[in-house]
Amino acid sequence: MASRGFFVVFEGGDGVGKTTQIERLVALLRSPEGGAHDVVTTREPGGTDLGRELRQAVMHGGHVAPRAEALLYAADRAHHVASLVRPALEAGSVVVQDRYFDSSIVYQGGARGLGDEVERISLWATEGLIPDLTVVLDMEPVASRLERDLDRVERETAEHASAMRDGFLSLAARDPGRYVVIDAARTIEAVHADVAAAVADAMAPGTPPAAKGADS
Ligand code: TYD
Repeated sequence: MASRGFFVVFEGGDGVGKTTQIERLVALLRSPEGGAHDVVTTREPGGTDLGRELRQAVMHGGHVAPRAEALLYAADRAHHVASLVRPALEAGSVVVQDRYFDSSIVYQGGARGLGDEVERISLWATEGLIPDLTVVLDMEPVASRLERDLDRVERETAEHASAMRDGFLSLAARDPGRYVVIDAARTIEAVHADVAAAVADAMAPGTPPAAKGADS
């Protein structure tokens, strides 16, 4: 189903500054100089009432079997897209979202060895809704930069963060027209300037709309 709005998603590892950059972008898009757009800002997991319950279940409920975890994120996503994101896009809004199915592909698919199945489940859950633009905020994990004197747990955390980073970078490399990778290890202003330019470019008239079907 075609949508008239614009769907931009932020992805990246934990602590790369997505929240701050989303706030800055949303403020710009709503301002007269940014086009006075109608903007809906949301996140996964937990963008709806049901999603908040699913978020509790997946994030604070103790051990969750990997496949159950993947399905809880997918359930959150299915409900979120059907009840909030798609209606907003159909009403012509710009939807700015913190995390989407790339987080599942990287965290559940890559980290937990569930492979491409996670991607298929997400596409089914969302009826193939693909973002117009995905902004990957990229930063070398802090612990990898410290390197020396890491204990076992710190080393495992650093390795996990590096693997997640590589996962987002390879998704972006797979489809460069639909992704922008921005170096997030800079000032808030510098990162924001690049985010704003990338979003303006992608929203400019004449930019071919990203495919919105699962078959793309
Ligand atoms: P959150 O507290 O929203 O923080 P942030 O997005 O700023 O890191 O945490 C969301 C966590 O959920 C994050 O560690 C990534 C994880 N996650 C998945 O594992 N799979 C998913 O599909 C999504 C959307 C998130």
